Amino acid sequence: MDAADISQDLTRVLFTKEQVAQRIAEIAAEIDEEYAGKDLLIIGVLNGAVMVVADLLRAMKVHCEMDWMAISSYGSGTQSSGVVRILKDLNTDIHGRHVLVVEDIIDTGLTLSYLVSNLRSREPASLEIMTLLRKPEAAENAVDVKWVGFDIPNEFVVGYGLDYAGRYRNLADIGLLAPHVYS
Ligand code: PRP
Repeated sequence: MDAADISQDLTRVLFTKEQVAQRIAEIAAEIDEEYAGKDLLIIGVLNGAVMVVADLLRAMKVHCEMDWMAISSYGSGTQSSGVVRILKDLNTDIHGRHVLVVEDIIDTGLTLSYLVSNLRSREPASLEIMTLLRKPEAAENAVDVKWVGFDIPNEFVVGYGLDYAGRYRNLADIGLLAPHVYS
């Protein structure tokens, strides 16, 4: 679906699908340069990062493998609780591998903070982060993020993998959710 299909649920479109594709292409080119000649493993964080991983990998020219983790913060709604648990671990041993974690959004940064320390303990050769979106509060849980698609305001965003109560992930654009939907 496009933003026009659910315009009553959105305050406005933050990024069109064309803007997202353009930014992902730019980052893919930088990733190609960074990992040229290296054995790269992409780790996508389910569920939100599915779209980013799918589009980023197809925009990249270097070879890579793909694996997935599912991490959940307890609770639901629009706030991160800060307590995380692994719902699905990797199938791959990352010891000695060049690892790039791909996220859809860093909000408080708590999920990523946990994930990075967990993955570092498995002793990868390198560990970098790419996120499509980052909110201001992420600075409070400073994790070194190598590639950020867009820094965004502290508002509730949906689309391109990002959900509210499980919906809107299949919105092709990224939009600000209208308060009447979640209040
Ligand atoms: C989202 C997102 C990140 C996390 C960021 O996942 O994909 O993993 O929240 O929030 P934080 O920086 O405040 O920790 P969510 O738990 O909503 O699961 P989902 O990807 O399945 O939507």
